[in-house]
Amino acid sequence: MNYNGVLLAFLFLVIKLNGLLCANTTVWGVGLNPVVVLPARYFYVKYNEKITNIKNFNILINGKTKVGNNCRIWTNILDRKDSSFIVRYKLYEICYEFNILVEDTKAHRKHVNNYYKGPIYPDDCSCKKMSISSWLANAECKTDIIQINSDLGQFKQIDFNKAIIKMIRLFQKNPHSISVCQYVVKNNLIFRKCYGDYTGFKLFMDNLLLSLSRKVFLPDMEFFVNLGDWPLSSLQNKMPIFSWCGSNFSADIIMPTYDITESSIENMGRVSLDMLSVQGNIDKTWSKKIQKAFWMGRDSSKHRLHLVDISKSQPHLINASITNFFFYKELKQKYGSGKKPISFFKFFDYKYQINVDGTVAAYRFPYLLVGDSLVFKQESDYYEHFYNELIPWVHYVPIKRNLDNLVELVNVMIESDRTARIISLNGQKYARDNLAPHNILGYYLVLFQKYSRLLVSTIEVREDMEEVKDAIPPEHCDCENSLHFKMEL
Ligand SMILES: *[C@@H]1O[C@H](CO)[C@@H](O)[C@H](O)[C@H]1NC(C)=O
Ligand SMILES: *[C@@H]1O[C@H](CO)[C@@H](O)[C@H](O)[C@H]1NC(C)=O
Ligand SMILES: *[C@@H]1O[C@H](CO)[C@@H](O)[C@H](O)[C@H]1NC(C)=O
Repeated sequence: MNYNGVLLAFLFLVIKLNGLLCANTTVWGVGLNPVVVLPARYFYVKYNEKITNIKNFNILINGKTKVGNNCRIWTNILDRKDSSFIVRYKLYEICYEFNILVEDTKAHRKHVNNYYKGPIYPDDCSCKKMSISSWLANAECKTDIIQINSDLGQFKQIDFNKAIIKMIRLFQKNPHSISVCQYVVKNNLIFRKCYGDYTGFKLFMDNLLLSLSRKVFLPDMEFFVNLGDWPLSSLQNKMPIFSWCGSNFSADIIMPTYDITESSIENMGRVSLDMLSVQGNIDKTWSKKIQKAFWMGRDSSKHRLHLVDISKSQPHLINASITNFFFYKELKQKYGSGKKPISFFKFFDYKYQINVDGTVAAYRFPYLLVGDSLVFKQESDYYEHFYNELIPWVHYVPIKRNLDNLVELVNVMIESDRTARIISLNGQKYARDNLAPHNILGYYLVLFQKYSRLLVSTIEVREDMEEVKDAIPPEHCDCENSLHFKMEL
């Protein structure tokens, strides 16, 4: 081989190595497929920080209205500070000639430049309905969900007329402590009737059902929703009822909590804390975080007061405080009057987060996981819809129910920072991949689809039921053609 050949081979090797070292920018996520209607659509960009920088990216999402004006679209970039970011966007009208551009202006590379003729529909229009199966497939949602299978597996079939009798009996025994609504969905219209003293939380279910019914054809079905936190169906006398929180000593059918449901359907809307916004609002990266465990919240269990006691004796390890006294007002003196709450995003200035039950499971757990800290989770009989997919010591650090080993485990994790970081990243990855808004909507769709197949009673709108209706369709919702209203089979 002559000299030049060697040089060429050498150069080739350098280029090759360089290529291997600089993995490409990758762009993925449900928002790249605007056919999937979501409150806010979103996708993810991961780049190689050795060759580029978030500032080099030009992100442009635009489209035209029917009459050719620029479409009103709000685009929001959330920097995850791990050489990846979230692009989310919200449509305020129907768009045509829709384009998504992700361009690295430094490398002069267009990573995404996708054109869609449209119409692309905003979330508040009831235009593009599809079958549940199509929606789930388009959104790439999983359909085989262990929690749903096991909750529904308790019933071979459901005769709702019998369920009503059981429910009335239960209600008559506890008329002031139980609040439930009975819903009927028929021809994609929603009807309900509620029982109990406190039925305000029906709004969460109403909004969810309305949101889903704008996107898909819901199956005809009839179900109960428990508006309280405590599960209602006993293991001995099972009753089909949907609840936001499950427990080892009850048989309720679990759905995502009203908290994460609301933040999913109000993404880029009324709610500022959601599974995406957390990811883009964390100040301190891992090595800059304060090496303490943090907790702040209401006094809704004695465990929480105990946690504050522990933090008082170990202030160099744990910072815990009560913001609001309601359940243990008489102890306000002892614990000092409520501390001024800090923004949830500031929790992640601390390296370790503690998740302690309130009256039931603490509904902040998804947000803690998706943040950038390590989560210590109290052992509990209560669970949310996804807990069974998590593994202690893989996704979080389990602590005893009585919190006895908390101090010891915080010390262990301070000593083993690498392990702590790995567990925190595992938890974060799980939450990023499984608890984003479309996963939450997908969970409900799978649940409703499978539940409806168990019903053997006829589905009729019952007497005294009220129709749950959307506000008058917004003016901008001039659906393209009535074909979209036809059921896809
Ligand atoms: C990046 O992707 C392009 C197109 O897929 C490919 O041609 C190129 O080799 C990739 N570069 C690297 C460094 O992987
Ligand atoms: C605990 O955390 C809060 C919020 O970050 C802070 O204001 C307070 O000073 C901390 N307390 C201690 C004892 O460090
Ligand atoms: C409750 O169920 C969970 C999950 O199956 C389990 O890990 C836990 O040990 C159970 N708790 C009790 C007290 O049985």
